Amino acid sequence: MKYLIINGSPRKKNTWAIVDRIKYNLEGNFEEINLSECNIPICKGCFSCFMKGEGYCPHNGYIGPIVEKLKDCDAIILASPVYALNVSALLKNFIDHTAYFYHRPEFFTKKAIVVVSTAGAGQKKVANYLDETLRHWGVNKVYKLPVACGAKESLETDKIDKVAKKFRSDVESGKMHSPKWGDIIFFDVWKAMALVDDPIPADKEFWFDTGLVNHDFSPDVNLGFVKKIFSKVMFTFLRRVI
Ligand SMILES: Cc1cc2nc3c(=O)[nH]c(=O)nc-3n(C[C@H](O)[C@H](O)[C@H](O)COP(=O)(O)O)c2cc1C
Repeated sequence: MKYLIINGSPRKKNTWAIVDRIKYNLEGNFEEINLSECNIPICKGCFSCFMKGEGYCPHNGYIGPIVEKLKDCDAIILASPVYALNVSALLKNFIDHTAYFYHRPEFFTKKAIVVVSTAGAGQKKVANYLDETLRHWGVNKVYKLPVACGAKESLETDKIDKVAKKFRSDVESGKMHSPKWGDIIFFDVWKAMALVDDPIPADKEFWFDTGLVNHDFSPDVNLGFVKKIFSKVMFTFLRRVI
């Protein structure tokens, strides 16, 4: 299995140690991106990725290769310390550069684990934020590992091992999980947005080129009868109101 690690901590300490312990529980190839070494400029807010396509991002030379690695891996390990009750600026800047995935989700067959280290506060909120972000990217299943490091001398290895083992067995099984209701709604929102009279050009191109516009959800994931009907009804409703 190919694991891609994206680490938003600027130093090799708590977050890094937790990721290292997760790796100890996994088997496969690891590629590690430390965002502190990537020197990605701050997102300029130019909207080029949304409107024209991600290739038009003025920082595509930094972001494009990381996105290629995301596409190529089987599973993602996304890690950040809590900074002022949020992710680190390093990770937030990366997420800002990939915000177009909210409109154009891609990673339906991938699983992820989010690692959040903190002194004592904010870890669950930040883990939930990363979970939400990855689900908008299309990621099939997200495991959460919020860890309060505080004044502890050693890692809570039992807790880390337990979540890492579940993650590993899920990744290796290749099983696709049924999406959450909210994931289906967002899929239908962006599919409907691609069909409005004046759509965002890059979004329209993506939804038509991938063929996703013809599906109730990614064809890689089995929706089941009830969620299929739900998606159809939701899409019909959204086509009327958007
Ligand atoms: C700028 C900054 C802001 C922080 N904000 C918080 C915070 O809001 N809540 C908290 O509990 N810990 C906070 N911390 C502590 C870190 O989240 C914690 O020490 C974390 O484990 C550091 O990870 P690292 O060793 O990978 O850098 C902050 C640390 C820094 C440097």
